[in-house]
Amino acid sequence: METPIATDLLSAADADSRSLRNLLGQFATGVTIITTLAADGTPIGLTANSFSSVSLEPALVLWSLDKRSPNLELFRHIKHFAINILAADQQQLSNRFARPADDKFEGVDFRVCSNGTVLIDGALATLVCRNERQIDAGDHLIFIGEICQYSNAGGEPLLFHAGQYQSLSQAECA
Ligand SMILES: Cc1cc2nc3c(=O)[nH]c(=O)nc-3n(C[C@H](O)[C@H](O)[C@H](O)COP(=O)(O)O)c2cc1C
Repeated sequence: METPIATDLLSAADADSRSLRNLLGQFATGVTIITTLAADGTPIGLTANSFSSVSLEPALVLWSLDKRSPNLELFRHIKHFAINILAADQQQLSNRFARPADDKFEGVDFRVCSNGTVLIDGALATLVCRNERQIDAGDHLIFIGEICQYSNAGGEPLLFHAGQYQSLSQAECA
């Protein structure tokens, strides 16, 4: 039997950024807020779904930051960052940290820990990571973090797929 040949693939070289976004958005993810403290103690955070686990031994994870971020230099040089994995009821928080604002943390319940990271209350889990290494990758910078502390409360996650928030319970109802 002859192996079928795929003739319906599109060339990425011809694709516009909208098509590529739509393509990559097919990969369903959780949603995180990456946090740290600036040198003057100001809490910093942004919404990111580029988080992924990398290695168990040692315990490594990654996320990537748009090079246009005003916080690029800060994140490049800080010693620790935290990855706060959001719960299904934290969609508003996700939206708040996905837009530039003077004080994203106003009215947000959080704690700081001794190594200069910010833990957002109500997150499903928080990973405190040593800023191990960065990899230059196109218009983003990939951050590799080594997990040094964590909390894992569990619960229902906030999900993101095809440019929209989703929840597991919605999926179960559909
Ligand atoms: C669901 C979701 C996921 C996002 N993931 C990322 C990401 O992984 N990396 C990134 O640089 N921006 C990501 N963004 C966009 C940033 O949150 C947004 O640009 C934010 O304004 C960055 O904060 P800053 O301007 O303080 O750097 C995401 C936005 C949303 C809504």
